[in-house]
Amino acid sequence: MPKDTLSVTDNRTGKTYELPITHGTIRAMDLRQIKASDDDFGLMAYDPAFTNTAACVSRITFIDGDRGILRYRGYPIEQLAERSTYQETAYLLIHGELPTRQELESFQHAITYHTMVHENIRKFVDGFRYDAHPMGILTSTVAALSTFYTDAKDVMDAESRRIQIIRLIAKMPTLAAFAYRHRRGMPYVYPDNELSYTGNFLNMLFRMTEQRYKPNPIVEKALDVLLILHADHEQNCSTSAMRGVGSSLADPYSATAAACAALYGPLHGGANEAVVRMLREIGSVKSIAGHIERVKRGEGRLMGFGHRVYKNYDPRAKIIKRLAYEVFDAQGKNPLIDIALELEQIALSDPYFVERKLYPNVDFYSGIIYEAMGLPMDMFPALFALGRIAGWLAQWQELLEDKEQKIARPRQVYLGPDERRYVPLSERGHSERPLPG
Ligand code: CMC
Repeated sequence: MPKDTLSVTDNRTGKTYELPITHGTIRAMDLRQIKASDDDFGLMAYDPAFTNTAACVSRITFIDGDRGILRYRGYPIEQLAERSTYQETAYLLIHGELPTRQELESFQHAITYHTMVHENIRKFVDGFRYDAHPMGILTSTVAALSTFYTDAKDVMDAESRRIQIIRLIAKMPTLAAFAYRHRRGMPYVYPDNELSYTGNFLNMLFRMTEQRYKPNPIVEKALDVLLILHADHEQNCSTSAMRGVGSSLADPYSATAAACAALYGPLHGGANEAVVRMLREIGSVKSIAGHIERVKRGEGRLMGFGHRVYKNYDPRAKIIKRLAYEVFDAQGKNPLIDIALELEQIALSDPYFVERKLYPNVDFYSGIIYEAMGLPMDMFPALFALGRIAGWLAQWQELLEDKEQKIARPRQVYLGPDERRYVPLSERGHSERPLPG
């Protein structure tokens, strides 16, 4: 009779242990009983970069990386992209169910009426250098929000959490748009409550002298779909940062700032910017082969390719690729698409990429669309953050409601020196080490 257990024999002692298996995992703490001697600390699992460690139980997002499946709360991403809206999807992620009409209207109303930020935030944005990266501005200003909402510290209070969630979803577009306008040396545009979530964001980005900004409905819809596609992706780097900081019971603005900082890196949410830089550098279809050869020699990575979890086509990339043409119809074609398509085709038939199961990910085509919408490259990671805020908040809330969770505190394997005596400066002599200054 098969049992849901794992038998482990410690060859140091000859002892056998039986560890329960639940949901395809063993508990790392069950290893601690395995000791070579009485004063042994006990066995630990070593897993740099968490490549095979589940750090939480979650009911939010499901990914099957081998089959290219992504679902939020059970709903396939394709259906949400086709039929939902970003605000409805945000509600779904946070509350676990699709809203009724009344629930959705109330959620949307609350978000619409919390889009303004304190005037001091505007002054704060003014203080950044003229060429400050929008992600630097977004990360700092979202952290600064915690000083305006001191009630946010009450993270174990469900009502306090509810209002901070609304504020964050509402204010992130305002902060990102202010960052953009600052960069352009243009006056800030305040929210327009008559517009949709994405329509208002476009208004805060692009309004010039007109009385009322009218967003292009195709761009407005495409941006909404992009936000849905970026809304959550289970335990990625920025979500782990959100959970990690949240686990110390820090307020959600501070935790979101940490998540933004994690997202900023070129291997994560900064990849969309890096893809467009790479495509520009390649410059023409005839230079693709040379670029691929450089990547294969280890001289850089093919940005927008590969994923820790997907070992098949990223389902989000498929949708974004289609969406690109809708945006091109409205805004004009981005010529980088031709290089991207050819690059994808060549890479997908090259054994280097095939053997490593490297497929285009969400970032491969998104930057090309953002650029066609008229956005500069350094705004792309901020757009990723706007979508991901819903997932970060859903995951943060789930963490706080999970009785099993505690402050995140990984273990280490110490391989440094044993105890040694402090040597006074006068006795240290000469060193061949390079000078640090
Ligand atoms: N170009 C060339 N080779 C690659 C690439 C790439 N983009 N990605 C992975 N590899 C190779 C890597 O060199 C390694 O080869 P080998 O076995 O010979 O050493 C093998 O594939 C496995 O790579 P890995 O680094 O162990 O994979 P990982 O799971 O640690 O990294 C990744 C995942 C996304 C960081 C990586 O694929 C990458 O750097 N991609 C480019 C950056 C990018 O597009 N990031 C966006 C990710 S999707 C959006 C998001 O969630 O942020």
